[in-house]
Amino acid sequence: MNTVNNTGEKSLVDNPGAYTLIDGKLISEQIKKEIAAEVESMIANGLKRPHLAVIIVGHDGGSESYVAGKVKDCADCGFTSTLIRFEDDVTEDVLLAEVDKFNRDEDVDGFIVQLPLPKHISEEKVIEAIDYRKDVDGFHPVNVGRMSIGLPCFVSATPSGIIELLRRYKIETEGKNCVVIGRSNIVGKPVATLMMQKGYPGDATVTVCHSRTKNLKELCLQADIIIAALGQPEFLKADMVKSGAVIIDVGTTRVPSTLTKSGFKLKGDVAFDEVAPKASFITPVPGGVGLMTRIALMKNTLLAAKKEIYSV
Ligand code: GUN
Repeated sequence: MNTVNNTGEKSLVDNPGAYTLIDGKLISEQIKKEIAAEVESMIANGLKRPHLAVIIVGHDGGSESYVAGKVKDCADCGFTSTLIRFEDDVTEDVLLAEVDKFNRDEDVDGFIVQLPLPKHISEEKVIEAIDYRKDVDGFHPVNVGRMSIGLPCFVSATPSGIIELLRRYKIETEGKNCVVIGRSNIVGKPVATLMMQKGYPGDATVTVCHSRTKNLKELCLQADIIIAALGQPEFLKADMVKSGAVIIDVGTTRVPSTLTKSGFKLKGDVAFDEVAPKASFITPVPGGVGLMTRIALMKNTLLAAKKEIYSV
């Protein structure tokens, strides 16, 4: 039988088959409290509340629920939030004008445009139009470039959340073989960059696998840490994982379910039930990386308000 704990202090040697469930809910709630306390001390010192603005276009179900979560997180952290909605038929020019307004609004510390956008709008153009000093998503090429050479910047939320989980669970990364499955601009590429960066949590030997990788199973079997971020439910099976590996599941695919009120449930990229017994540490879905992603955006907004990354 498997035993699970949340302390991060377990020994695989003493207790083979036991794994530590990485509790994103617990950690994200801790961080939320840390942020809220810092905001209250800012207010006590006469500073203004951090202010995050969010632009959403259309009515995509996933985007609606992500944005509702971001607005709630702002309230929990003591931030001001502004939500601007456009219908699917909004023109690129109108959207760019709104971006420009937020760039110049001195009360707004950071803002994001929720993706995906309708086909007739260029996501690249919109992202590049955001002032990189307010780009709390960390998607602007200036922030991506600065991250890749290890300069202070806004790091995108999911990679940042993963790194924070590794740090808080004191998971060793130095010299470890880390396989990242998926090469997206917002998860795979940046998390690979962070895992190979000098210092902790980093210093790993990183391999990035994707849809054209030929020997994916062999590479995964050599991995001490696997970060599954390809968006394919239950892709990573037990026979692809070596005993004692650390498993980080970034997948959040919505699949229909008759068991939930919403009519869907979230599925990760890892076949949890069969992989967990082989793992040393593993993130659940839901309750793992997703909640850390949400809190990472709040941290970036706080950094923006405090002008900690860019002083002007
Ligand atoms: N769509 C899915 N994830 C994200 C995110 O982190 N930021 C934005 N802007 N859009 C998203």
